[in-house]
Order: sequence, then structure tokens, then C-alpha cells
Amino acid sequence: MVKVRILGDEGAVAQAVARRVQRLLASAPSAVLGLPTGRTPVELYARLRRAHAAGRVDFSRATTFNLDEFLGLPPDHPGSYRSFMDEHLFRHVNLNPRRIHFLHGGAVDPDRECARYEAAIRRAGGIDLQIVGIGANGHIGFNEPGAALSADSHRARLEPGTRRSNAALFGGRASAVPREALSMGVGTILRAGAIVLMATGASKAPAIATALGGPVTTRMPASFLQLHHDVEFVLDREAAGTLR
Ligand code: F6R
Repeated sequence: MVKVRILGDEGAVAQAVARRVQRLLASAPSAVLGLPTGRTPVELYARLRRAHAAGRVDFSRATTFNLDEFLGLPPDHPGSYRSFMDEHLFRHVNLNPRRIHFLHGGAVDPDRECARYEAAIRRAGGIDLQIVGIGANGHIGFNEPGAALSADSHRARLEPGTRRSNAALFGGRASAVPREALSMGVGTILRAGAIVLMATGASKAPAIATALGGPVTTRMPASFLQLHHDVEFVLDREAAGTLR
């Protein structure tokens, strides 16, 4: 049963998820976090930075694994998700760099890189709290809708709409967004101890309604979250759309 929390606006969504991270790290300082990039978590990371500066959250023993990365981009490329995380969170908090994990977009052997990532997650004891966003098409991570989904981390082809929504990272040019990425699989996400999906804005409302109320189907990757025993959707009023 998916828990649903509907809050007033995107600031309230960010605050609720930031508090959840703070509570987890207060009770389990060496927790393993799964983290998203994108527009939705920008405010979450701003709040975590502020909480850290005010001494309200300590990341020194935490471990992180990000959901995905563009294929073909080295970590220091300005459009990479690694650069995004450095800018919005990593550079500002006291995470141990050795415990920050990322799929390496510049890997020469992507399949091997994905296997390495799955092994690293297992070695860390699994992800305690996985935070995800959702694409307007229902993707989670870069698990795009289709006839089939991958369970484990894998090489993924991006839909044109997904490339368009990442254009801001590439000077506004969708054509400059890589066509492929490396991503945790749906199984990787579902193996987390707890999952929080955050969504804001009216463009997400149709996907949210289908992910929660429709059948579990590879055409709506986020619908697989219905199968998890501890999942919460934290939504603003617009993303909640017509949900009651
Ligand atoms: C990003 C990711 C994606 C985004 C999704 C929503 O790491 O895995 O699934 O969460 O595309 O992106 P925004 O937040 O930009 O709407």
C-alpha cells in the first residue's frame, strides 16, 4: 500500500523529504541513501545544505548512491549528474568522498560498470532510503516506459521527451543531451528498505494518477512502486491533481 502525502507547494515537499533524511541520519548515522537529480530535488538539496550549515544534519558516516548518469560523460563534465550533485549537495556537506557512489558515465565497458555498481550497493549493505523523482512519462531513474524493464543497473536509451527535459544542463540544447544513460534498474530501486517519490507541478499529475491507480505495467515504470512495502509519494497539490 503506497502512502500518499499531499502538501501545499514544492517548498513543503522539499521540507518534508529533508526532514525524513535528517531523521534517518539522526537515528542511523551510517545510513545508505539513494539520490536523484533533476529539477524536483533542487530545493531538497538546498534545505539539506542549510540544515548541515546549521548543525542539524551530519553526513560524515553516510553513504550515497545516485540513480543514474549520462553515458559518455566523464564525472567532471558540466552537464553530468555528478557535477549537478557536486554543485547542489556534495561540495557543501561533510560526506566522505569515498562513500559517494556514482555510475561512471565515461566507463569504457558500460555493462561491467553496471555490475560494479550493483556489487558496490550490495557491499554497502543495500540502500536504506531511496529518493526518486518521476518523469512526466512515468519513468523512475532512467527506466523508460516500454515493453520490458531491466531489474538491475543497465544501459538505457533516453526518450526524446526525457532528453528535452534535461536540455537545461546542456545550454538549453536537447540535441546535446546524450542519447543513452546508465541507470539503476527497477529491481535496484525496489530492493531499497524504504522509497520516497517526490513530485511537484501539474505536468506530473497524469503520471502520478496512473502510477498509483493503474495496473503494474512496464508502460508506467513508477507503477512498480506499488509492489514495495514501504513507499511514500510526497506530492504538492498540483502533482496530486485529481487524487483524493
Ligand atoms: C534523475 C532521475 C529522473 C528524474 C525525473 C524527473 O536522477 O532519475 O528519473 O527524477 O526525470 O526529473 P525532474 O525532477 O527534472 O522533473
